[in-house]
Amino acid sequence: MRKPIIAGNWKMNMNPTQTTEFVNAIKANLPKFDQTESVIGAPAVDLPALLEAAKGTDLKVAAENCYFEDAGAFTGETSPKTLNEMGVDYVIIGHSERRDYFHETDEDINKKAHAIFKNNMTPIFCCGESLETREAGKAEEWVSNQVTEGLKGLSADQVSSMVIAYEPIWAIGTGKTASADQAQEICAVVRQTVAKLYDQTVADKVRIQYGGSVKPANVKEIMGKEDIDGGLVGGASMEPASFLDLVHFND
Ligand code: G3P
Repeated sequence: MRKPIIAGNWKMNMNPTQTTEFVNAIKANLPKFDQTESVIGAPAVDLPALLEAAKGTDLKVAAENCYFEDAGAFTGETSPKTLNEMGVDYVIIGHSERRDYFHETDEDINKKAHAIFKNNMTPIFCCGESLETREAGKAEEWVSNQVTEGLKGLSADQVSSMVIAYEPIWAIGTGKTASADQAQEICAVVRQTVAKLYDQTVADKVRIQYGGSVKPANVKEIMGKEDIDGGLVGGASMEPASFLDLVHFND
């Protein structure tokens, strides 16, 4: 059985004060961590506040990015080694906003995945196609290729423990959700790709999230799909009551 994982991705929103207030508002009502994982991904500048507020609660903490070197002359970058020392659990990598606006390549993202594992954290690896690619009938091939490139050189154990988030670009922040069936279709392709690259045991273990306009009103239907084990949520994760509704999708 794969444990559900609902993760907020706050992107470049919220400040440390808002972060502390948010966690204080939700912490008593989170599901038990051994039943559903609740995660918040916050900007690097908010991580100390988030980690402090999350201490002793059922909330896990994600960084939204990191570099693939532990240290060195990389002005403005965030060290995965430092993130681990701070107590960060997950790092989101390969988000389409980083691929598009910051020109991250499959190779960069793969190096980040290795660096995150080396530093004892877990990647949340994002993939997903543009509307143009979908309309050209190439969504499956595109996503499968992103997964193949992103996982290069990772061990079966590493892949078994990681999280892959399928986020169709056309459904991000647009209010346009992929239907639960469309989401399931590509999440199944992700799992089949992992089975091809590794084996069925690894594919059965890796957790796959759907992201793109997930909200309390649609989370239950999406989470009901066979190959969907979680959600990666932007807009609807930034309000405490909405976040709690998401993590309690199965109540
Ligand atoms: O990473 C989450 C994201 O890109 C989806 O954003 O606002 O459509 O839930 P949103």
